[in-house]
Amino acid sequence: MEFKRSLELYEKAIKIIPSATQTFSKGALQYPFGAAPIFLKNGKGSHVWDLDGNEFIDYPMGLGAITLGHAYPKVDQAIIRQLGSGISYSLPHPLETQLAELLIEIIPCAEMARFGKNGSDATAGAVRAARAYTGRDKIACCGYHGWQDWYIGTTTRSAGVPQAVSELTLTFNYNDIDSLKNVFAENDGQIAAVIMEPIGIIEPKDNFLQQVKGLAHKNGALLIFDEVVTGFRMSLGGAQQYYKVIPDLACVGKGMGNGMPISCVVGKKEIMAIFDEVFYSFTFGGECLSLAASIATVREMIDKDVIKGIWAKGKKLQDGFNDLAKALNMARIARCVGLPPHTVITYDDLGGIDPLLVRTLFQQEALKRGVLAIGVHNTCYSHSDDDVASTLKAYDETLQIIKEALKDGDIHRFLKGKPVQAVFRKP
Ligand SMILES: Cc1ncc(COP(=O)(O)O)c(C=O)c1O
Repeated sequence: MEFKRSLELYEKAIKIIPSATQTFSKGALQYPFGAAPIFLKNGKGSHVWDLDGNEFIDYPMGLGAITLGHAYPKVDQAIIRQLGSGISYSLPHPLETQLAELLIEIIPCAEMARFGKNGSDATAGAVRAARAYTGRDKIACCGYHGWQDWYIGTTTRSAGVPQAVSELTLTFNYNDIDSLKNVFAENDGQIAAVIMEPIGIIEPKDNFLQQVKGLAHKNGALLIFDEVVTGFRMSLGGAQQYYKVIPDLACVGKGMGNGMPISCVVGKKEIMAIFDEVFYSFTFGGECLSLAASIATVREMIDKDVIKGIWAKGKKLQDGFNDLAKALNMARIARCVGLPPHTVITYDDLGGIDPLLVRTLFQQEALKRGVLAIGVHNTCYSHSDDDVASTLKAYDETLQIIKEALKDGDIHRFLKGKPVQAVFRKP
């Protein structure tokens, strides 16, 4: 497999685009540089092709945005139909009401809806609405919530965020209710909202989500579920439907448009009404191609029971991976964890070897065998049983190489490309 054209374009791009990407998680540092594609050129269903013409089974799926498949005919037709009569107008379009009605039918907490383009629009909008509604400034959060100041100030990528802003957001730990109790105890009467990913890769324990909701409400704070990943993936109505815990507000994005840029804040009418006052307003909020795509995507998800398919393929992949690891006596070293529609490969017990090096080798060897691997699987409707079988064959060989490399102890000897780097570096 050659990556000559990718590398040539990278040389050009890096001179005129910082990091040569618009999204850190898509950047060249996330794959073994020199032994991986840097640019993808086209996709169809569950497969993508890079600039050099190499074909891969896709698992990042546009970072979770592709729920049906690349170039999915019904969604493409909806976009093309709308394209023929315009993209953006200067008054609202009926598609806005249509999509809002659809979301209100599907998402348990949704009584009203406001659209955005990125997940970060929705989370920032929900946070501002919560502050306006409660008259409080501070936020408690758990998970990843996008690029805006209010959240990114809590991470190691906080350059450019004023300290005063960072100090307004406090973090707590998943499945650790005491960590949230502490946040409330130390900021009595000041927390506007608890915003969290209802599930990341670990399942909630001991009614964690119910406990968080109870604690938030007892302290006069709103509960916001960030369902940018889990919405239209764990179930149509998101993790709130799956776990039967209904938040006050929820943010969805990614999967709702099969790759088109659209997100949404939904929630209880009484709280959503604050958007009449809160400034959440931008030129492309009602852009029609994405609205049309989202309506077509959601309808197709209902018609084809897409969630069931996403779970089934994801489970086959996850169980298959864990069975392979077990058969190779590597069950404690490499695990595929999470709920089947969104799983992550984790590495433990490596005897001091950097997990990023092991991840690099895993990616390198899986890529060589035709799997676009970043360690996250977002299964979509177009993944076939054949895709899963080919992936597991590739993973079997890949895991055997990892086993050999770990035994050898010098992973570098096995690497053809540069080690991948974490987006959020340790301070
Ligand atoms: C849980 C969660 N919330 C919010 C976001 C931000 O979404 P976006 O990158 O579309 O702004 C992401 C993005 O990965 C996410 O995973």
